Amino acid sequence: MPNGKSWAVVTGASSGLGVEIAKQLAQRKIHVVLTARSEQQLQGLAQALNRDYDIEAVVEALDLSVPDGAVALQGRLEQRGIEPEILINNAGFGLYAPFLDSDPARLRAMLQLDIVSLVELSQIFGRQMMLRGRGRILLVGSMAAYQPVPNLAAYAAAKAFVLSFGEALHVELAPKVTVTVLSPGLMDTGFNEASGYQTAKALDIMKLLPADVAQIGLDALFAGKSGVIAGRLNKVMALSSRLLSRHAAARASMPKAGKSRD
Ligand SMILES: NC(=O)c1ccc[n+]([C@@H]2O[C@H](COP(=O)([O-])OP(=O)(O)OC[C@H]3O[C@@H](n4cnc5c(N)ncnc54)[C@H](OP(=O)(O)O)[C@@H]3O)[C@@H](O)[C@H]2O)c1
Repeated sequence: MPNGKSWAVVTGASSGLGVEIAKQLAQRKIHVVLTARSEQQLQGLAQALNRDYDIEAVVEALDLSVPDGAVALQGRLEQRGIEPEILINNAGFGLYAPFLDSDPARLRAMLQLDIVSLVELSQIFGRQMMLRGRGRILLVGSMAAYQPVPNLAAYAAAKAFVLSFGEALHVELAPKVTVTVLSPGLMDTGFNEASGYQTAKALDIMKLLPADVAQIGLDALFAGKSGVIAGRLNKVMALSSRLLSRHAAARASMPKAGKSRD
């Protein structure tokens, strides 16, 4: 557990899971850099965290879906003299649509955010952590990583990348820097709206609260685990997808019209 002078960077801190992760880090007396594009939301959260937890919370509003996003964030932190001991790579969105109909610019932005910026931030801050001799990185993946998902094909593949990348880094950077992949399933956040995603009512039973998922992720992070799937039902789903062939798993995860799954 880091001491009270530790800083964490939380990407995607303006909404959903990122807000809960930032709050719970602040509860643990860790200073936070909050980043996303929505500056107003970030400023509101920073004020609340400063007030309620007596920690420093600073805001860096920027877009991580553009090629220089990660380097821009690094530059802003250098100017502030902040070297984070914890990196929470949480920002992300999905694209729920038949692949051939997806907007190419949006597809590129999603891959840039969900994969490229996540990799670049892990390298930038991972190097600093290694030089300092300690650090922790949380990568937010998804249950979509555990099987191919038609109509969410590129998003599910991006999250499969995150899972594989994080599991490899966990071994490569140990013991000084720990890397943990958090795999959430369905949560009520801004995700559905951002991704054009509609959840079938029958899947409500799978939903977890973002605050609970944040706690599961942070507990795994501070325990130095390589990964954690949030929720018992999700664990069963991940296991059962291993019993099917990849083709059968892809067919089984094909959402019916107007329905979808994550
Ligand atoms: N909700 C689910 O059912 C679910 C399930 C599995 C995995 N996940 C994963 O959980 C993570 C958090 O998502 P969430 O559910 O909390 O959704 P959310 O409420 O939509 O939050 C997404 C966060 O990412 C930020 N973001 C989006 N585009 C960005 C950009 N171009 N540059 C910088 N930041 C950007 C958003 O902030 P701005 O819009 O202000 O930039 C927001 O803070 C994502 O990686 C998602 O894939 C979600």
